[in-house]
Amino acid sequence: MKKITIHSPATIANLVCGFDILGLCLEEPYDRMELKMNDSGKLMIKSLGAHSLPEDPLQNTAGVALLELMAQVSPETGFDLTITKNIKPGSGLGSSAASSTGAVVAANHLLSNRFSREECVRFAMQGEKLASGVKHADNVSPGIYGGITLIRSIFPLDIVPVDYPPLFVTVVHPQIEIKTSDARQILRQQVQLRDAIRQWGNIAGLVTGLMRGDYALIGRSLEDVIIEPVRSILIPHFDEIKKAAREAGVLGGGIAGSGPSLFMLSADRATAAQAEEAITAIYNRIGLEHHSYVTTINPQGCRIISES
Ligand code: HSE
Repeated sequence: MKKITIHSPATIANLVCGFDILGLCLEEPYDRMELKMNDSGKLMIKSLGAHSLPEDPLQNTAGVALLELMAQVSPETGFDLTITKNIKPGSGLGSSAASSTGAVVAANHLLSNRFSREECVRFAMQGEKLASGVKHADNVSPGIYGGITLIRSIFPLDIVPVDYPPLFVTVVHPQIEIKTSDARQILRQQVQLRDAIRQWGNIAGLVTGLMRGDYALIGRSLEDVIIEPVRSILIPHFDEIKKAAREAGVLGGGIAGSGPSLFMLSADRATAAQAEEAITAIYNRIGLEHHSYVTTINPQGCRIISES
């Protein structure tokens, strides 16, 4: 029986202006997943860790992603999956994607990497459909490719890895839960042309700034005139936090995925730590429980820890 243990990292979707089309992979937090391959033709799931998950494969984002992969291999191939969930569901840090990408990457490895990264993204997107009703790929792509990815198109899938300069990420996670499906439902379905023009200017500016290592351009482009004005009402003290982080010297930032976590990008670790201090001071003042991290971009995505 072949067995593998991997770390499946948190991811940040949208990167402020790129709703559903940009995402980055974080060094931490991450889930730990153990997958054993057998010849039962069945999938069994066990959930451990701080946050419990459904163990019915059809109700579990890792489960539906693995079932999609299993439909493409010999019918006797079966798996036992144990998920130790550290990334809180409903945090905005790609918890559902960490489950589905981790399971798919682990299974693909046990199957001698017979599927391409793009095919793995396609399997993992089934998990996003289960979690949010929509097959968005801006968490699963960076989880599988690592680094920063642009999802130019979903149908057909067109994933473009984006180069980036050294960046430090401050993540603050207020301990409230926002379901992605709810945070999508409140969005307006129509966009004013002038807002669209500003937004695509920002997206192009952000991608160019990342590729050139132009920190000032990255900072100017981290602006969202379409989604953030609606979703920020769900996040306590959002405007005050953004202001405090800017004053601490971050390049910019905003809502992580569909929230409630916030993230800020900085060019150096000291600034990222100052921003963490400034933001946590606000949440301490109002008595809102939160977790925070200063971390970096994970260039690799899911990481194999051991295999036997
Ligand atoms: N792009 C998705 C959204 C990401 O913002 O709804 C969810 O993590």
